[in-house]
Amino acid sequence: MTSTLLTGIGELVTSAPDGSEVPDVIEQAALVIEGSRIAWVGRALDAPDADERVDLGGRTVLPGFVDSHSHLVFAGDRAAEFAARMAGEPYAAGGIRTTVAATRAATDEQLTAHVARLVQEMRRQGTTTVEIKSGYGLTTRDEARSLAIARQFTEETTFLGAHVVPEGDPAAYVELVTGPMLDAAAPYARWIDVFCETGAFDADQARTILAAGAAHGLLPRLHANQLGHGPGVRLAAELGLLAVDHCTYLDEADVDALRDSGTIATLLPGVEFSTRQPYPDARRLLDAGVRVALASDCNPGSSFTSSLPFCIALAVREMGLTPLEAVRAATATGAAALGRDDVGTLAPGKRADLVVVDAPSHVHLAYRPGVPLIAQTWVGGRL
Ligand code: NIG
Ligand code: FE
Repeated sequence: MTSTLLTGIGELVTSAPDGSEVPDVIEQAALVIEGSRIAWVGRALDAPDADERVDLGGRTVLPGFVDSHSHLVFAGDRAAEFAARMAGEPYAAGGIRTTVAATRAATDEQLTAHVARLVQEMRRQGTTTVEIKSGYGLTTRDEARSLAIARQFTEETTFLGAHVVPEGDPAAYVELVTGPMLDAAAPYARWIDVFCETGAFDADQARTILAAGAAHGLLPRLHANQLGHGPGVRLAAELGLLAVDHCTYLDEADVDALRDSGTIATLLPGVEFSTRQPYPDARRLLDAGVRVALASDCNPGSSFTSSLPFCIALAVREMGLTPLEAVRAATATGAAALGRDDVGTLAPGKRADLVVVDAPSHVHLAYRPGVPLIAQTWVGGRL
């Protein structure tokens, strides 16, 4: 197995938890990769020998970003809807049906090529692990093929047949989602998700759908409290979910419930940017003892960004996180939101997924928004 020493690291952010052997930030650092794993991290002065040596010239190294929430399998374009919103129209979840029609009409090859392009775009911006949902097919055939396509790119695939009711009777649609559609989707999915929101699915329907998924071995997660206050976040806490996503509208009882259950609040600031909604108060959540993750929610309607550096900048500017907290939210806590401990931190034994930032510190990700600072992305020890 070849070992590679990355040295000349001006600042190494490990995102390691407090109290672990590895500090969360190391200056004048080095790191050794052996095969696909990290073998050593520490101060450059103390670095062991390795077969190869790469000098990073004072640049910053971070864990690769873990984007725990995206909807990359789709066709069509909703730029006109975005432009109308910027001119004052409100965001409406009904726009999802526009994408459903385009997705159903696309070929497998077209959908696969589009996902490949978006995943490549993410890689260039430092994302090394991505979760991908279905949810723009909403027939048994189209959900199963969406997940089969997503599976070609990631193990972290999520069945979101319960995105909206595409047409017809809601009760009949829930029967379909929990019956034949789930049977066809489950072999390609690790997770099951429900959009629990007024106009999509209520708490009882969400409960039924997540339970059906669990009976097929799928792990539950939820979209909740995106467009207004509602029962979704408290349901996620009651069910002890690993993570609940959006959390834009939270009252005190929601925050207390998240703290008590340990459920991670995954915040998606690209959505607030693109829908002109108020940003969630990440500071309030962290101060209350709730863990916070950041993800892109990359999708054609509410957040068509693939960039976690952009989300980090928004979280710092608009949501009260320090730059270091925002990096942790997009790395270690994103990994935790997917139940993963092999990625999201840089410590011996972890997968060698990391990014080299062309800047003297991680602060530049927020200080220089919109600038392409990600110089290198390493996945499993390979550049
Ligand atoms: O996460 N909330 C539901 N689904 C997507 C939006 C989908 C769309 O508008 O196409 C989201 O924001
Ligand atoms: Fe989403």
